[in-house]
Amino acid sequence: MIIRPATLADAESIAAVHIASWQQAYKDLLPQDRLGQLPLDRYISRWNQRLQESTQINFVAELETEIVGFSSVGPSRDDDAQAHTAELYAIYLLSSTWGKGIGKALCEKSLKRLKEDGYQNVTLWVFEDNENARKFYEHMGFVFDGKTSTFEIFDIVKSEARYERTL
Ligand SMILES: CC(C)(COP(=O)(O)OP(=O)(O)OC[C@H]1O[C@@H](n2cnc3c(N)ncnc32)[C@H](O)[C@@H]1OP(=O)(O)O)[C@@H](O)C(=O)NCCC(=O)NCCS
Repeated sequence: MIIRPATLADAESIAAVHIASWQQAYKDLLPQDRLGQLPLDRYISRWNQRLQESTQINFVAELETEIVGFSSVGPSRDDDAQAHTAELYAIYLLSSTWGKGIGKALCEKSLKRLKEDGYQNVTLWVFEDNENARKFYEHMGFVFDGKTSTFEIFDIVKSEARYERTL
């Protein structure tokens, strides 16, 4: 398994992993019909954009040259963020690879990079009912910082919890 920085050429593969991972991770948390209609072309163009943004750092995990996961980090987007606070925007793997240490490797690589870039803390937002991800983050040293928020997606309101850890 290789963890490496993502390049623009990875946009299509990352978009496909993004959709497939959402469909599995959120199958009991978001409406099935909406998850079944996630538009690959729009995800690809969004990733083409993101991979050219200088503030966001993206890594991919490859197994035998196939991209099976990605992570994205950068500066915190929260209004109440303290100085030197980064954010883990996303970490998603194909479900066939869950539980094999790849998420941990992606997370460690991303946090190492943030530390090298001078950040001191990192936060993330996770659906309150995404228990697997919460357990994973807790295992990686993150703690719930008491802050929650809600947002609307696919015509339903979801609650999110914020986690933090020092780098
Ligand atoms: C969350 C996710 C990235 C974790 O990656 P992963 O490769 O499955 O996790 P790992 O195998 O690297 O696990 C790392 C450690 O966390 C622990 N862990 C992971 N999931 C766990 C769970 N559900 N319960 C308890 N411990 C868990 C592992 O046991 C492992 O412990 P170890 O270091 O002692 O061996 C991956 O499962 C995924 O893509 N899930 C769907 C997408 C998602 O929900 N992303 C987060 C959105 S906010």
